Amino acid sequence: MSDSFLTHLSCWSCGARQPAERLINVCTCGKPLRAEFDVRAARSVLSRDAFAARPRGLWRWRELLPCPPGAAPVSLGEGDTPLIPAPRLAESIGLRTLLIKDESLNPTGSFKARGMSTAVTMAAALGATKLAVPSAGNAGGALAAYAAAAGLEAHVFMPRDVPAANRLECALFGANVTLVDGLISDCGRLVAQRAAGEGWFDVSTLKEPYRVEGKKTLGYELAEQLGWRPPDVIVYPTGGGTGLIGMAKAFDELEQLGWIGPARPRFVAVQSEGCAPVVRAFAQGRGDCEPAPNAHTAAAGLRVPKPFADFVILKYLRISGGAALAVSDDDMLAATRELSAATGICACPEGGACLAALRKLAADGWIQSEETVVLFNTGSGLKYAEALRCVTPA
Ligand SMILES: Cc1ncc(COP(=O)(O)O)c(C=O)c1O
Ligand SMILES: [Zn+2]
Repeated sequence: MSDSFLTHLSCWSCGARQPAERLINVCTCGKPLRAEFDVRAARSVLSRDAFAARPRGLWRWRELLPCPPGAAPVSLGEGDTPLIPAPRLAESIGLRTLLIKDESLNPTGSFKARGMSTAVTMAAALGATKLAVPSAGNAGGALAAYAAAAGLEAHVFMPRDVPAANRLECALFGANVTLVDGLISDCGRLVAQRAAGEGWFDVSTLKEPYRVEGKKTLGYELAEQLGWRPPDVIVYPTGGGTGLIGMAKAFDELEQLGWIGPARPRFVAVQSEGCAPVVRAFAQGRGDCEPAPNAHTAAAGLRVPKPFADFVILKYLRISGGAALAVSDDDMLAATRELSAATGICACPEGGACLAALRKLAADGWIQSEETVVLFNTGSGLKYAEALRCVTPA
């Protein structure tokens, strides 16, 4: 297999260039960094059909992912999740084609596995030995697993009321867990305060450049699964925004590679009414988010009061002609059960939130019946026993 076409990093905000050969968190201006690839060189030697013939998994895109020459990816079999048609749900919403990208089948039961596979691969290859993360839940579990796979130390900071399954998986994987009386933002402050003194490399969402690269494979897979035509609409549960940003980056790269045309999906960012900073900023025409006050929701992954890369999320939502929508926890939980019962997919509340939002958008006429819609189930409902108790028999 040939090497990665990764060349350098550039700032999502000021454009400053940084080397990709050393451990780095953010730009000197404090904003997130983006991994850049020599797509022109890649285009001359790579063919999209060759990728289809490779063994399944995220790392079949290796040349387009960050991985230093000679380094072995830290992998647990993530990626290449199914895109499952949901005809009965589609009919009930008035759509011809509704497809569910089922990310619950990833290692540790969520799409966070993708980002941690690439981030831990790079961190390990560049010499990190101790990794730390603030997490709403699933990212902590994923870091714990990939650190275990790489033989590295993991330090996970989570809100005290995080789903029990996330605490359990971190403990099983041997991570050091700190439960914090507060939100992911408070956890992030603690990691930032202690990282330098403890020798931890901080792998917070978009405070290192490579988790988003793993998430990018969502876009590659979707394009490939749909015959190299991205869908018309992508409905995505947005917390820190790595998946949304990753997919937008993926479609840009695929166009530069000549593998898809200029058409892009409209992105829909779905949040909870109890924590909707992106929805509010989008409605107000702002370029960044104000912290959501008193953030609360049963969808743990959506309890992010202020995404670090808010300006990138908002940019892509607007460029794509997309939308941002908040749903109530009651609607979200009812839709979680409906999604599961109508498809056999083990939906998480974040996936349920997407279904509730999709119903609203279709009812408002924002989506036409002949459009192809992809809805994300980002994790497994089995990790949310507490939140889903209200939709299960006593
Ligand atoms: C199941 C689930 N869905 C969605 C999200 C939000 O993802 P992102 O931070 O990429 O927006 C999370 C984040 O923790 C999550 O765990
Ligand atoms: Zn910068």
